[in-house]
Amino acid sequence: MQEREFEALKLGEAVEVERGVVVERRSFLTVAASAFAAAGLPGLARAGRLDESADAFEYEDFLAEAVPAAKALVADNSRGGQDRYLFALAAIAVRLGDVPQPKMRSNSPGTYIGANEGGDPFVVLHWRLDPGARIGIHPHIYGNVVTLGLEGEVLVDNYEVEGERDWLTKQPFVVRRTVSQWLTRGGVNLVNLERNYCHGFTAGPNGARGLDITTRLLERVDSPSLVLGKPLEGPCARFEGTWKYD
Ligand SMILES: [Fe+2]
Repeated sequence: MQEREFEALKLGEAVEVERGVVVERRSFLTVAASAFAAAGLPGLARAGRLDESADAFEYEDFLAEAVPAAKALVADNSRGGQDRYLFALAAIAVRLGDVPQPKMRSNSPGTYIGANEGGDPFVVLHWRLDPGARIGIHPHIYGNVVTLGLEGEVLVDNYEVEGERDWLTKQPFVVRRTVSQWLTRGGVNLVNLERNYCHGFTAGPNGARGLDITTRLLERVDSPSLVLGKPLEGPCARFEGTWKYD
């Protein structure tokens, strides 16, 4: 899914977070780990008691660990820097048990999305897909993503442009599918702005639910859909592609 500027929202204000998907900010989203520590809140206290090898994180535990880690790593937005950021965030996210479902909205058939409060510099989008529901392939141009499966199964495909990429071209180009992954509970899929940066979702027969932990690194711009054309000759998953802007 695709991030938008949640941090600028006022309570109750709605924003489009994905092509055609609008959610409403329902509470303040800035929760710093230092605030947990200073206030002695249960999240951090519990994190200190956790058995690192066995206990699942509750959402507050996740924030207490992930916010300072993310703040420390987010500045380096090179491909390698983003890898380090995304893997670090993913390593914490996979410890999550379930996460409370926020109020969600549906802006396309069978797809629902909302946001869990907290997160800095990232926002935590929470999505649910009905059986067979799809989110079309789209590039992430300004924000990277850790997608975490919480329930069910969803096929996640990632793509990259082969050679020089041009977000505005109206001409066909070549894309390659870099990842095709059945994402299940506890699994992660990473979108780096320089790697695997297009993704699309197709829910399995039981539907799916998960998180998109998204971090905006660049200025927000209009983002297209990726339209896949015919497969190209050869053994690899390469296709003709075009961008489609609304
Ligand atoms: Fe996305």
